[in-house]
Amino acid sequence: MKASIYRTEKDKERRIIWAAMRASLEASRFKYKRNGKKSKSHWTTFEHLLDFFGFALKLIGFYEKGVKNASDMKIEEPVFYFSNLPDAFDGFRILNMSDFHIDSLSNHEDNIIRKVAPLEYDVAFFTGDYRKNISGSFKNILGPMKKIAASINPPYGKWAILGNHDSYLMAEYEEDLGINLIVNETLELEKEGQKIYVTGTDDPYYYYSEQAVFALEKPLEGFKIAMVHTSELRDIAAQNGYNLYLCGHTHGGQICLPNGKAILTHQYEGNKFVSGIWNDNGMIGYTNRGCGVSGIPVRFNCPPEITLITLKKK
Ligand SMILES: [Fe+2]
Repeated sequence: MKASIYRTEKDKERRIIWAAMRASLEASRFKYKRNGKKSKSHWTTFEHLLDFFGFALKLIGFYEKGVKNASDMKIEEPVFYFSNLPDAFDGFRILNMSDFHIDSLSNHEDNIIRKVAPLEYDVAFFTGDYRKNISGSFKNILGPMKKIAASINPPYGKWAILGNHDSYLMAEYEEDLGINLIVNETLELEKEGQKIYVTGTDDPYYYYSEQAVFALEKPLEGFKIAMVHTSELRDIAAQNGYNLYLCGHTHGGQICLPNGKAILTHQYEGNKFVSGIWNDNGMIGYTNRGCGVSGIPVRFNCPPEITLITLKKK
């Protein structure tokens, strides 16, 4: 039983280059996407609009209900079947949590810990967005994230990727938090002499880079999982033989109509890939609604989730 990332000297150099590159992108007022750069300023405008929306909700007495909904996490338990899953991994369970934005709701870490406590799983994957804001100090989230990490101890460890709300400097706290950051590289999980691979990339919503594509294109034979903050790299993953694609980012819309349709999705694909199970060119994908909230601490018709995935042999 082993979980490890094998890093050559070149891989270590690549990570230093990534940190320098992401530092410069984080300082920029643009978000860097596959199809070019776009202004980040819409986020600030959006936050002002949300302040107004929050005020309106308070006036009509719906705000408290929305905050309560945002704390009421649902456990989702999807089971995925694969013909090429190694026998040793039949029944392997993944705890997937996303979009914590842990400083958006008070004592949310205790809620998460309580909800996760009865679950049994082999490995934990966190798919980004640990803080509320998209820049500035993140000192306030270290305590709550450490508390959550300390309560989760699966045999194959805790592995994380960064989202668009995160900073490259969070990598400095990997050891302290006991969470391993995967940045455009591949984790190998080994059980009874058999292996599966998990490639985690940097966030492509604000910080798209060729390095992320390079990581997914790396030739690897076998059962492969891609972990990306958004669904934006799904075509590259599918073309390169990935079997399962895990992402978050959308919060499932966070505020949805009574029929569950998201009003805003924060992605350019509209309502496609916004939550739950999807399929793209033979690859199974799962968009986690997230366990937290951002912008405004409310949810309607879109409960936060903690996800327990089971891999099964077909
Ligand atoms: Fe998020």
